[in-house]
Amino acid sequence: MARILITSALPYINGVKHLGNLVGSMLPSDTYARYMRQRGHEVLAICATDEHGTPAELAAAKAGKPVAEYCAEMWAVQKKLGEGFRLSFDWFGRSSSKQNHHLTQHLAGKLWEAGLIEERMERQVYSKADGRFLPDRYIEGTCPNCGYERARGDQCEHCTKQLDPTDLINPRSAISGSTDLEVRETKHLYLRQSQMRQKLEDWIETKTDWPILTTSIAKKWLRDGDGLQDRGITRDLDWGIPVRRGEDDWPGMEGKVFYVWFDAPIEYIGSTAEWAEGTGQPDAAWERWWRTERGAADVRYVQFMAKDNIPFHTLSFPVTIMGSGEDWKLVDFIKGFNWLTYDGGKFSTSQGRGVFMDDALDILPSDYWRWWLLSNAPEGSDSDFTWESFQTGVNKDLADVLGNFVSRVTKFCRSKFSEAVPEGGAPGALEAELAAELDKRIAAYNAAMEAIDIRRSANELRAIWVAGNEYLQKAAPWTAFKTDPDAAAVSTRVGLNLIRLYAILSRPFVPDASDAMFEALGLPADTENDWPASAEAALSALPPGHAFTVPEVLFAKITDDARDVMAARFAGDS
Ligand code: MF3
Ligand code: ZN
Repeated sequence: MARILITSALPYINGVKHLGNLVGSMLPSDTYARYMRQRGHEVLAICATDEHGTPAELAAAKAGKPVAEYCAEMWAVQKKLGEGFRLSFDWFGRSSSKQNHHLTQHLAGKLWEAGLIEERMERQVYSKADGRFLPDRYIEGTCPNCGYERARGDQCEHCTKQLDPTDLINPRSAISGSTDLEVRETKHLYLRQSQMRQKLEDWIETKTDWPILTTSIAKKWLRDGDGLQDRGITRDLDWGIPVRRGEDDWPGMEGKVFYVWFDAPIEYIGSTAEWAEGTGQPDAAWERWWRTERGAADVRYVQFMAKDNIPFHTLSFPVTIMGSGEDWKLVDFIKGFNWLTYDGGKFSTSQGRGVFMDDALDILPSDYWRWWLLSNAPEGSDSDFTWESFQTGVNKDLADVLGNFVSRVTKFCRSKFSEAVPEGGAPGALEAELAAELDKRIAAYNAAMEAIDIRRSANELRAIWVAGNEYLQKAAPWTAFKTDPDAAAVSTRVGLNLIRLYAILSRPFVPDASDAMFEALGLPADTENDWPASAEAALSALPPGHAFTVPEVLFAKITDDARDVMAARFAGDS
């Protein structure tokens, strides 16, 4: 039994996430966690909301709420939606937790002691009308690069050039619109990432098993001249983690907070500490996942994230962890994802384009989405959500193959035998052929899941469902019943056992359908250690006489009309 720590990139707090966010980290991390738990490993799956920074303040202002209140509400909304999608995190925390405050201040203190934080005097834009500095998105003006008039202080949306607020032409406050601005000197902290270049490079070199997507991005940033620049880790904002060195004040840093990208990944640890407290355990319980000298040396730590997050997780966060000089656990494997597009374009929160987690659950159960998203996960390249593809995936794989199999077998057995596994006959050549095929397929499925190849895993799972259908087609118990009832009993018995096998194997992908199959078979849905070692044994797990019920239709087909209605509803404003 292994110990596996799994973290999903933390969804940003500023609104309900769309399906692209879901499939880019949270959903595949759940599937992997479920699989590993079912294999009997000790798993801890962690997520949280990422709550600091200017986007949170601006979203709260737009909602007309104090930012703390806004974040508390949005955390509850996101947690509930995660539960709706059956995301099985052991803890869904908040980066604003007291644990994260403590850990972030602690690590900053250690980095300071190690000489990895530098104080610099900076010139920043100050708004007299607003009585504050205007970092990042709080300032707007004309882009010096392309002339776009609504460029933000951190980046021009039009030409994508990264900017400093002081670069903008005709700058104005995004809060009040005031142009009564001046540049003032103010002190900020910089993380001296460049000092760690060699250490990082050596570390990345050892990661020969990482996906190319991950290592190529990390190496590009390491090698590019400005990839590993020292990075400002403080901001002039109210909402955030106050700058301290451990327990001590930081002279000259009063009223400032840490930059959101400094504290957010530390919340992986913070959320684990929240989990320990929330489940009534001592600190040692979370430390054995994170401190190598307190039990975490044998933990395998796997992170899930979309590709834009990779630089922060391959470079910045490791600098924090390694630079502290303490025994924190470093990531062992990073699973990165490309983008999910919506009908050939971007998902857009501002234009309401695409499907968001709340709408998705309003229109169809979570398994439908889970299956399509996972079986089309943007791994090797971007993938595109279209309603046609969604309809086809659901109708073919779920309704025609899995759902239909369950329905046919249970209904046939009820009508020709009874609502119990039939007895009589003995397995023959067809059953041996099926078992051999399943052994091969299950091994391939296992291998794909171990490698976290989500699409390949989905393909193997689908092939396992198809194998059962093909077997049933060949054995044709409905014909055999008339001439050879024992043969019909064998294939029906095998069919019912296949349902049990599908309930186990499909659970990481479609947990609700798995529940329904277990319930129909009168079995507990607790599958730990049930993972099949041999198909032959699995196909006779349910003995003759074992009672079952015919379940409700597992998956309803999506009609063309329903598809068109959904497509029109989510086309967006423009
Ligand atoms: N909130 C970031 C995003 O949505 C991800 C943060 S991952 C972190 O892209 F854990 F490192 F914070
Ligand atoms: Zn521009």
